[in-house]
Amino acid sequence: MEKTTQRAPRIDGHTLLAGVIGWPVAHSRSPLMHNFWLRKCAINGAYVPLPVRPGQFETAVRGLQAAGFRGVNVTIPHKESAYRIVDRLDRSAERSGSVNTLVFTDEGRIEGYSTDGDGFVANVEAHGIPVHGGRALLLGAGGAARAIAASLQDRGVSVIVANRTRARAETLAASLAGVTVVDWAHAGAALPECTLLVNTTSIGMEGAADGAFPMDLARADRALVVCDIVYVPRQTALLRQAAACGLRHVDGLGMLIHQAGLGFHKWFGVTPEIGPDVEALLDADLHASRTG
Ligand code: ATR
Repeated sequence: MEKTTQRAPRIDGHTLLAGVIGWPVAHSRSPLMHNFWLRKCAINGAYVPLPVRPGQFETAVRGLQAAGFRGVNVTIPHKESAYRIVDRLDRSAERSGSVNTLVFTDEGRIEGYSTDGDGFVANVEAHGIPVHGGRALLLGAGGAARAIAASLQDRGVSVIVANRTRARAETLAASLAGVTVVDWAHAGAALPECTLLVNTTSIGMEGAADGAFPMDLARADRALVVCDIVYVPRQTALLRQAAACGLRHVDGLGMLIHQAGLGFHKWFGVTPEIGPDVEALLDADLHASRTG
């Protein structure tokens, strides 16, 4: 009992507030992560899930801003609304064409950021793999793919995109000069010249329809690094194949943590330590919800 009282966050007139807006939002691990960091950094703050129906996004955001929130994360289905509502788009948001982090400034403005791409790169680098130059083959052409492509280009990486629906890859390439497109079915032919392979599709994700990748990792260069942004399960079939071929590989959980750390810094002014503790916390929680 005493222990519970000690660990309960103090909420008072100085509490810094942030949260995640989505519909649905109950599945989001962001509250778990941010509140863990708030306690660990001894910050008087709270991060709450904010279920907001489609059509209510702007009303909710203006209300939260008026109520003194520092900002919010934005998830499905509101990312496009967030892009439209901001007073200032950070370069990350402009380049990735989406917004996942809103910051309410002291001057009453709303700034929009996209932390997915930089979160991806930070996670790869946290695995001791420098991201600079070289060539990456990106599988998929959704919002996450575009954010990652933009951040890779910022680090001098040439980006090739392959998507099942080629037109979507062409759209991505049209908005990011320098990106090249290859056919999904022939993507494997581009692999030998690549240093990085990134899966941003839902293939391998628990609950997603089955799908196959158009390549055989056994033919890849030994220096290839294979990344998956899927994190349920953490060890996807693609990563298991990479391991079997002796290739370095990076799972998607760290990207989730790193992109969150960037938002935390903007709202609470502190860069959280991204270590094994938060990873273990999320890993246990994901595992519990799969087996529970
Ligand atoms: P996000 O915006 O988070 O990236 P998304 O827009 O739903 O999510 O994108 C999912 C990606 O997975 C798309 O690139 C999709 O390909 P299509 O554009 O052709 O739909 C890809 N995807 C999903 N299932 C797939 C499958 N079975 N085979 C190949 N690609 C698949």
